[in-house]
Amino acid sequence: MAEGPLKLCVMGGTLVDSTGVRRGDVCITGDVIVEVGADLEPPAGSTVLDASGCLVTPGLVDLHTHLRQPGAEEAETVETGSRAAALGGYTAVVAMPNTDPPVDNGAVVAEVLELSKNALVEVGVAGAITVGRAGERLSLMRELAALGVKLFTDDGNGVQDGGLMRRACEYAAGLGVTLAQHCEDERIAGYGVMNEGVWSSKLGLRGTPAAAEDTMVARDISLARLTGAKVHFMHLSCASSVELVRLAKAEGLSVTAEVTPHHMVLTDDLVRDYDPVFKVNPPLRGVDDVAAIRRGLRDGTIDAIATDHAPHSPESKQLPFDDAPPGMIGLQTALAVSYDTLLSNENHPSFSQLQEFFALFTSRPARIAGLSAQGGPLSKGSIANICVFDPDERWTVESDSQASRSRNTPFAGRSLKGRVRHCILRGEPTVVDAVALR
Ligand code: DOR
Ligand code: ZN
Repeated sequence: MAEGPLKLCVMGGTLVDSTGVRRGDVCITGDVIVEVGADLEPPAGSTVLDASGCLVTPGLVDLHTHLRQPGAEEAETVETGSRAAALGGYTAVVAMPNTDPPVDNGAVVAEVLELSKNALVEVGVAGAITVGRAGERLSLMRELAALGVKLFTDDGNGVQDGGLMRRACEYAAGLGVTLAQHCEDERIAGYGVMNEGVWSSKLGLRGTPAAAEDTMVARDISLARLTGAKVHFMHLSCASSVELVRLAKAEGLSVTAEVTPHHMVLTDDLVRDYDPVFKVNPPLRGVDDVAAIRRGLRDGTIDAIATDHAPHSPESKQLPFDDAPPGMIGLQTALAVSYDTLLSNENHPSFSQLQEFFALFTSRPARIAGLSAQGGPLSKGSIANICVFDPDERWTVESDSQASRSRNTPFAGRSLKGRVRHCILRGEPTVVDAVALR
């Protein structure tokens, strides 16, 4: 006899989504939420996942993941990266196009989509703004958009030529897609390898000032004003950038911004032992920048927390600080690091604090990425993409027990409060009791 669609119930948790916070159970048939309510009776034959003591939220959405396929499979693959994502509570990631070859034409989009067919998360593919990410000619944006690409970025580099960026904005506005900028003026950055400041002087390392970032933020705000294009600012690292975005939003421009967990927690003094695990671009900044980022998260200037999960092989990360590639992995730690930083010192976070916090990981990034089956709400008829997070479980980050192929986490050895217990992708469990099912 043919079996019916999988039935799954998530019982006894506290639901947190854009509609509010309430106790409740969720029942799923196939890939759809069929019932949400208090004290539901699981139908016969259903699998029950225990969510007692847990927050049940829409699956997380990462706007900024480097999956490294094609071309750098020694660092990550779609399979290993998507497993790390599922363990981190994600049901969708946007894959960055700085692969080899880069995602600047339809064939590479098709290749990444094919590789992602059996991934443990939905993979949205970002396209390059310029051919080869070389900053000289626009990529085939129309062809990429026709394949479903909604976000364009040369991430790894910013688009240096303001005239070319203006044309990209005009095209993007016409196509209804978003330009995501890695904000870095390379002339001002001047081959810096860490934040320019007291620590770069002490350590004798070349520094990159905040001005390398905020000048490009300012330029692109002007271009958003000129063209009406939607511009998204990636991994903002300094106070001056956050303030520029705050002003642009007050003016009503269609700009959005993300920050990473590492920029909201770590500072440039960590570079003092020359350990390349703390090398990242944009670099870790100072305490005032960290404070400004947290303020921006609290007052709504920042729309999303994104990982910039950037795996690099152990061999490359063992090079001297000057030569090692920048980047940190983050998919498995992002939610806990952020929850610990922003909420766990609140004895009982209020409903609105919980709602605002999870919006940074779910509904807001889903909207920016244009992923319509993601971000919630947890209501009857929605696609069942769900994260179950235990805010009280303590665990210690071990670089060797990461699902990623790479080990470059700056949080190794840290004790974190809050852990993903279960994750459900389109009605199918991907993680149960903090273990990935495939
Ligand atoms: O630290 C970073 N690593 N920043 C980027 O912009 C690119 C990324 C990578 O691809 O490794
Ligand atoms: Zn970047």
